[in-house]
Amino acid sequence: MEINRTSGTAGERAFLVSVLLDEQGSYQADPLEELADLTESAGATVVGRLTQRRQTPDKTTYLGSGKVGELKLQAEAEDADVVVFDNNLSPAQIRNLEKVLGIKVLDRTELILDIFAGRAKTHEARLAVELAQLEYSLPRLKRMWTHLSRIKMGIGMRGPGEKQLEVDKRLAEKKIYDLRMELAGIERRKERQVATRSDRKTVSLCGYTNAGKSTLMNRLTGSDEYAKDQLFATLDTRTRRWQLPGWGPVLLSDTVGFIRDLPHQLVAGFKATLEETRQADLLLHVADASNPHAQEQISAVYKVLEELGIHAKDTLLVLNKVDAVQDRGTLDRLLGLYPNAVPVSARSGLGIPQLARAVSDALSRNFRDVEVETSVANGKLMAYLSAHGEVLSRQFHDERVVIHCRLAQEHLGPLEGETGVTIRPYKVGDHAAPEASALDAALNPHAAAVDGVNLAETA
Ligand code: GTP
Repeated sequence: MEINRTSGTAGERAFLVSVLLDEQGSYQADPLEELADLTESAGATVVGRLTQRRQTPDKTTYLGSGKVGELKLQAEAEDADVVVFDNNLSPAQIRNLEKVLGIKVLDRTELILDIFAGRAKTHEARLAVELAQLEYSLPRLKRMWTHLSRIKMGIGMRGPGEKQLEVDKRLAEKKIYDLRMELAGIERRKERQVATRSDRKTVSLCGYTNAGKSTLMNRLTGSDEYAKDQLFATLDTRTRRWQLPGWGPVLLSDTVGFIRDLPHQLVAGFKATLEETRQADLLLHVADASNPHAQEQISAVYKVLEELGIHAKDTLLVLNKVDAVQDRGTLDRLLGLYPNAVPVSARSGLGIPQLARAVSDALSRNFRDVEVETSVANGKLMAYLSAHGEVLSRQFHDERVVIHCRLAQEHLGPLEGETGVTIRPYKVGDHAAPEASALDAALNPHAAAVDGVNLAETA
């Protein structure tokens, strides 16, 4: 059988399919909306949709056989080039469907991998995507070898896809091994690099794709990064200095967005990219409060964080896009569910001062602001303070030096009782502590919900 493929992604006409399994939760209520966004992000045009509710997937075609017939007619009527499933299918199911439908079939993972392939800019991101694509397509090579007679570019065919016919399985396996080794090297380097940057606190933005992380980063750091209304606009980590009011400079990093059922292959490949997130002192989890699926997206992000082994991090939830929330009840509900969340609008600046205070407060939680006085000759102590804490100022008085620094309690312990060293709390007032009342107001769901006054402050 010959599969017709249009050349070029932009022109592809995609027919969307979702099988809602009984065991799946409420997220599946409107599954094709997100799939449509993803498909358009990959450069195709959505020309039709079909859903089926089933108890379990059909073994051979995932969709029931009657529905496959219906899909074939509808896809033909719409002149579709590709059928995209919101589910993940086995290689055999895809092969069987392609035989019946006569057009290319992609599953959710292939679609996400394809978007990543189109977005990866840095060497590291390209390696990660290439590895994930190869790992995912290896068991599927047979399908591409046997029944697809003409392969041209199109969604699902970017990155190494178009080369798949030239490489045999053994070559693909060797390539996977090489990519893994190269990425492992990058990971180790990155781990060391991030770990040695202990002189500054690091705050890392994470969140569902399109939640507004880049926009928030721009707002907080005054930078002009890429923020676009497309999924996964950011694939690489970017780090900027953020002058945090009431605290001082911290490093703020923005990284790849997450999505429900993020392919496992991708999670593993992006380990190095996510190193900043793993080692951050605080995670700012940015959610799109105006999205009807905000709650499910928040849960999906927690799940990915768990998969990455970073669930234990101190996290602050930021409910972004409050300017776009249509109905007040939605925001109330979210604030009721997450009472510590900070509502903001990265676009307008609403709630940004409250967010800064909440971050400063969270960073202060485990730290002590102290003045350490010692002899100017005590180089060992100064080296210790620089290595383990943040030195904010030094004042010299003859043979003595007074160092204002921030240290974690665990690093302060060994200094207590040292001869010739005096430690005292840093004088309150010198350091602008967050105003408790403003913070309370920003965090109080009822205050926010009732009159919105605390949200009206701009940066
Ligand atoms: P990924 O790269 O996919 O992870 O996206 P991101 O989380 O970095 O989102 P980004 O900052 O690129 O914003 C996505 C879209 O949401 C853009 O069109 C932004 O203009 C828009 N956006 C961001 N913040 C706000 C906000 O506070 N209000 C409104 N109305 N739109 C916003």
